Amino acid sequence: MKNFYLTTAIDYANGAPHIGHAYEKILSDAIIRSRRLEGMACHFLTGLDEHGQKVQETADKQGVEPEQLCDGVAEKFQALCRNLNISNDDYIRTTQRRHTEVVGRILMDFHGRGEIYKAEYRGLYSVRAERFVLERDRIDGHWPEDFGEVVELCETNYFFRLSKYQDWLIDFLRSHEDFIFPDFRRKQVLEFLREPLNDLCISRPKARLRWGIELPFDGDYVTYVWFDALINYISAVGYGSEHFSDRWPADIQVIGKDILVPAHAVYWPIMLHAAGIPPPRKLLVHGWWLVRGGEKMSKSLGNVVNPLDYAGSYGADAFRYFVLREMVVGQDSNFTHELFLSHYTADLADDLGNLLSRLIHMLGRYCGGIIPAVELEETEEKNLRSLAETAISRVRIHCGSYEFSLALEAIFELVRETNRYVERRSPWKLAQNPAAGPALRSSLATAAEALRIGAALLIPVMPGTAEKIFRQLGADPAVRWLDLCWGTSLAGKKLGAGEVLFPKILEANHALPQMPA
Ligand code: MSP
Repeated sequence: MKNFYLTTAIDYANGAPHIGHAYEKILSDAIIRSRRLEGMACHFLTGLDEHGQKVQETADKQGVEPEQLCDGVAEKFQALCRNLNISNDDYIRTTQRRHTEVVGRILMDFHGRGEIYKAEYRGLYSVRAERFVLERDRIDGHWPEDFGEVVELCETNYFFRLSKYQDWLIDFLRSHEDFIFPDFRRKQVLEFLREPLNDLCISRPKARLRWGIELPFDGDYVTYVWFDALINYISAVGYGSEHFSDRWPADIQVIGKDILVPAHAVYWPIMLHAAGIPPPRKLLVHGWWLVRGGEKMSKSLGNVVNPLDYAGSYGADAFRYFVLREMVVGQDSNFTHELFLSHYTADLADDLGNLLSRLIHMLGRYCGGIIPAVELEETEEKNLRSLAETAISRVRIHCGSYEFSLALEAIFELVRETNRYVERRSPWKLAQNPAAGPALRSSLATAAEALRIGAALLIPVMPGTAEKIFRQLGADPAVRWLDLCWGTSLAGKKLGAGEVLFPKILEANHALPQMPA
């Protein structure tokens, strides 16, 4: 049976993980966890892009071999996945044999069928983007910053016949409106395709770059890093084996906006088409995290947000919550420490954390630590139940369309309404009146059930927190959204040990650097 297959971009092995890398994995993880809760069999791939000039340069600067550099970086990125509770099923590194073999096979196939040819090329070359560029790439007469130094180069190289597929790609994009999300990005690609495409230079002479996959038909060259890297999405799931069709085509390929054109929206579908492989079903293109009111993050500006500092200080789930609550998929967002703290305190510590701790406290004090059954269902209870039911359907729909900020709004509306319900019922007052026993027990049981539903809906974004809530309520953690509904499963359950979900932070003692808003 075909799995729901999701991939992320594979990170460059030449630096430390930052919020951009973390966000992409968290977003992907939330998508895949929500699909698993819907009962789908899933496969989730992420990994590391290890070849190319930048990695070689970084290794040279550090005086180590590229292999050694990559091993160290791979450890850091895998630790990022673990610390952020990313549930990837596989982690590919482009130096692995399973990958280099598939790249070699595709190159041989293309070369044998005349899809690749050798030619001399004189042109402008961007050192930082590692590709030939054109005059038309200038913006207002200047090269984009991403290009770094642009030099003139004359070289004999191998070229992939990209241009011959331009019309096919235009037709494909026009007839597959769902291929790129959000849709305005598809229109940008079509705009880009109004100019004629050049064939793609897929080799680099070893004299200039040694760190790459050698061309199987010419030992003097290595493969251009993007041609190599894109293939990870199929090499990781056994391209060429009988199992390949259990995974491919990918259902969603998550990438940032900077690598849509030309790599993922032009090279990649054309490479697949030329190889006779179906294209992925969807490219999901997210925006960028900026800092300090719209600045790009960069090492030289010293404004890089380290996700591991945040996960370490506030917990992985607080960081996951913040990035998914703040960023609308497709748009850019600003990261400020103040905003992070205000969400942490207001939503997580005060609303959610407080609801759990006061419920656990009252259930212990008034019900002997056993969740009672609902005996009375009046309008208040019915309203809360119907809000929880609405939250279930809203969250399922929003997660299905990658609107995690809306999903979280619906969940926190339920959490806040449950707090208000508790205020209105005031179990502490009911407890003073022996005749109000049924009302007391019903109010606590109703609030606990609302919290159980809220926790079940939080799983994709905050899996660790959901687990802690289930444990404290004595609830069954094996939830499926398919059959999630308001019910009586908590009645008679014994509370687990209490634990504060989101401790209040005393900023004065805090080690994180302050970032001006
Ligand atoms: N190695 C290539 C991808 C090859 S995929 C076959 C690459 N690596 S990267 O490390 O530079 O970026 C990895 C992912 O992180 C990309 O999707 C990129 O868009 C994303 N981000 C990098 N910086 C980002 C932000 N500041 N904000 C959000 N995401 C950003 O590109």
